[in-house]
Amino acid sequence: MATVLPGIARRLEGKVALITGGASGIGECTAKLFSKHGAKVIVADIQDELGQSVVKSIDLSNSTYIHCDVTNEDHLRTAVDTAISNYGKLDIMFNSAGVCDPPKSRITDNEKAEFERILSINTTGVFLSMKHAARVMVPARRGSIISMSSVCAGIGGIASHAYTSSKHAVVGLTKNLAVELGAFGIRVNCMSPYGLATPLSNKVLNLDDEGVERVMVAAANLKGCVLKVDDIANGALFLASDESKYVSGHNLFIDGGIVVTNSALHILKGVDGKI
Ligand SMILES: NC(=O)c1ccc[n+]([C@@H]2O[C@H](COP(=O)([O-])OP(=O)(O)OC[C@H]3O[C@@H](n4cnc5c(N)ncnc54)[C@H](O)[C@@H]3O)[C@@H](O)[C@H]2O)c1
Repeated sequence: MATVLPGIARRLEGKVALITGGASGIGECTAKLFSKHGAKVIVADIQDELGQSVVKSIDLSNSTYIHCDVTNEDHLRTAVDTAISNYGKLDIMFNSAGVCDPPKSRITDNEKAEFERILSINTTGVFLSMKHAARVMVPARRGSIISMSSVCAGIGGIASHAYTSSKHAVVGLTKNLAVELGAFGIRVNCMSPYGLATPLSNKVLNLDDEGVERVMVAAANLKGCVLKVDDIANGALFLASDESKYVSGHNLFIDGGIVVTNSALHILKGVDGKI
């Protein structure tokens, strides 16, 4: 798990963060890192047992678990109101809740209901989180909203139609809202990681952590290291902290440069490295 490096100040001292999908994977790691950096954290998820154990492992006096299905507007309204009633404000909204379905080989094999299910969590859920975060951040005239997109928003053909569409939509929402909320001093950004081992990717690929990492390393652009949840949590920490005070409307790719290349064209370089 991500740790605070010796000599590095606590970068979120006094801030309050709400994290959807905070019971597992990227959200869980980020909740723990934010807390180590001095934030009070509300973990919002549908996996109640896991969420409670994350909160217990952090510090019960500075964190809260709340059952929250991001497709349900009342749940999000209550989660945001809990941040206000428990800790007096909301500085950071991190939208990590998400699901992924295995890609089908043909669009004709895709069901409308499944397409809509993925979009309702990954896109409508982010829209509702943004809406209720904005409700309390605008009067306060401060805040940082961070959402999870994916490398699928940068390259086509690597995930299902539903997942790919849902993650493009997160980038669109981020840009639109960054314009609207900029007037109130609120920053809105998203992150687009390459594939990494978490329960979500392990389930889609039907592999364990080691198997997922083996597949990802083999296809990666950047060699010599493996993408971990800590790397995404560190990205969220930067976007949540005042160190990124002038960063808004940005999609932070944490992908080792995979979206800027097309590996199929490497053959054109020839044996001496020239095209
Ligand atoms: N793992 C990857 O390779 C990868 C890559 C790029 C982007 N992402 C994105 O990162 C985010 C976090 O995913 P992860 O890999 O940590 O997966 P994960 O499954 O470990 O965590 C996702 C969390 O979201 C929660 N969740 C699902 N549906 C929900 C709902 N309706 N309401 C509230 N919570 C709900 C789950 O219970 C889970 O705790 C997702 O948005 C995912 O699309 C993941």
